[in-house]
Amino acid sequence: MTTAMADDTQKERLRIGFAAAEVAPFSKTGGLADVASALPLELHRRGHDVRVFTPLHGTIDLDRFPFVPVEFLQDIPIQLGPYRVTFSAYVGRAPGTDLDLYFIHCPELFFRDSIYTGDADEFLRFALLNHAVFTCCQRMGWAPHVLHANDWHTALLPLFRRTLYAWDQLFAGTRTVLTIHNIAYQGAFPARIVDDLGLAAHRQLLHQDDLAAGVVNFLKTGILWADVVSTVSETYAREICTPAFGVGIDGLLRQRGGSVIGIVNGVDYSTWDPTNDPHLPQRYGIDDLAAGKKANKAALLAGSHLAPTDGPLFGIVSRLTHQKGLDLLEAPLAGMLRHRRDTRLVALGSGEASLEQMFLDLASKFPDRVAFHRGYNEPLAHQIEAAADVFLMPSRFEPCGLNQLYSLRYGTAPLVRRTGGLADTVAHFDRDHGEGNGFVFNHADSSGVGWALEQALALWPDRDAWHRMRTNGMKRDFSWQRQATPYENLYRLLAAGA
Ligand code: ADP
Ligand code: GLC
Repeated sequence: MTTAMADDTQKERLRIGFAAAEVAPFSKTGGLADVASALPLELHRRGHDVRVFTPLHGTIDLDRFPFVPVEFLQDIPIQLGPYRVTFSAYVGRAPGTDLDLYFIHCPELFFRDSIYTGDADEFLRFALLNHAVFTCCQRMGWAPHVLHANDWHTALLPLFRRTLYAWDQLFAGTRTVLTIHNIAYQGAFPARIVDDLGLAAHRQLLHQDDLAAGVVNFLKTGILWADVVSTVSETYAREICTPAFGVGIDGLLRQRGGSVIGIVNGVDYSTWDPTNDPHLPQRYGIDDLAAGKKANKAALLAGSHLAPTDGPLFGIVSRLTHQKGLDLLEAPLAGMLRHRRDTRLVALGSGEASLEQMFLDLASKFPDRVAFHRGYNEPLAHQIEAAADVFLMPSRFEPCGLNQLYSLRYGTAPLVRRTGGLADTVAHFDRDHGEGNGFVFNHADSSGVGWALEQALALWPDRDAWHRMRTNGMKRDFSWQRQATPYENLYRLLAAGA
């Protein structure tokens, strides 16, 4: 590339299409929604032409968010094998922002009780989303430099661009990025659905061993055809290329010749910052940290009907799944609660019945010291981050993790396993040198967690060291203003034809 060309692409306003199954605050089950909301917004603030595509899920509160129909994107028919579905697009904006999000409205597919379903037509729901992205671009006459797919739900974009929509010159310069937020979810379906995806004539471009085994896997298809595959931390980028973490896809990733890029997620500090968090009974910053934490802790304990304490409060906010390793906490937490009457635990989450039962049992064994809030509760998630002294995240694997980043900002020490994004963002506190921002253990077992809990309890009386540890965390900058830059650089390279 000549210098003049490089200068041009540095200045060019990029057209970026970003597709995701969930976008906060409209629809959310986890961190994908946070990323799909904040990263596009930051790129938009940098002057790029960003358009986000996501389903208008039946779970979205239509009274809370106004949606405006896009006049020329109404009642568009799409033939998916024997199924003929019709969709329309509505524009919505998150409160306080001016970025247009395109919501794909197809009640027969998206008006369900949850964002993800085990319904027989799950593949069709998200296949439609992939088709709708191209159709919307066509009708808008909008030629994206980059289409950015996220997880299996939108992982057909790269192949669709090379096949079904390759005839359209609009997409001649479009490059594709696929970001893996969690390789455990792959979207694997019986191979007979290939016709319904519209890919009957392109079977040779699908993963042949899978087809032979009677399977079509959306995520693998994306990995095969995306110009760039990325994931949400450097460590996870390495981990998923190994059999231990690759969930059957590591071989395919290795075939890409080490081209899986790791970019750690950012935090939207306009939503997650204790100095301006509207959900907190008392806001605070680094200068009034001790007083602020004390007030939030007292309020959370009282609100959760737990006894006041000067001892450490442990917090959990999580999807209750095997991934999060919360079962590893059971024995060490019970031991700690038996021996240390000054400790408290407040957990928020829902998911697997056995994990819910584990927290219910702990709460009934230690009624004035453990509270379990079952369900999904945005304000309470913020209040736990602010009130807790230690945030527990013993994940077996963690592509990035956002909660530990929120914890760092709130002066709450994350206690994590050294894996994925947790390894990249939390460093075990070194008392001698005053370095580090949390507690980190290596092995995904109860003794690993037990060791880390002991470390936390041993440090607790040393208030100066504790203060140092949490201010170390608060000073780290994981804002999207910072973390969006590698994505922007990547898009620029792709747009320049690199
Ligand atoms: P994952 O995406 O694997 O669930 P992350 O740490 O990346 O993990 O993101 C989880 C996000 O979901 C955070 O914003 C967290 O606050 C939120 N969250 C998870 N469970 C709940 C819950 N029960 N109530 C409110 N927010 C939750
Ligand atoms: C996934 C991962 C989580 C990550 C999030 C956003 O849900 O489990 O680690 O932070 O995606 O990228």
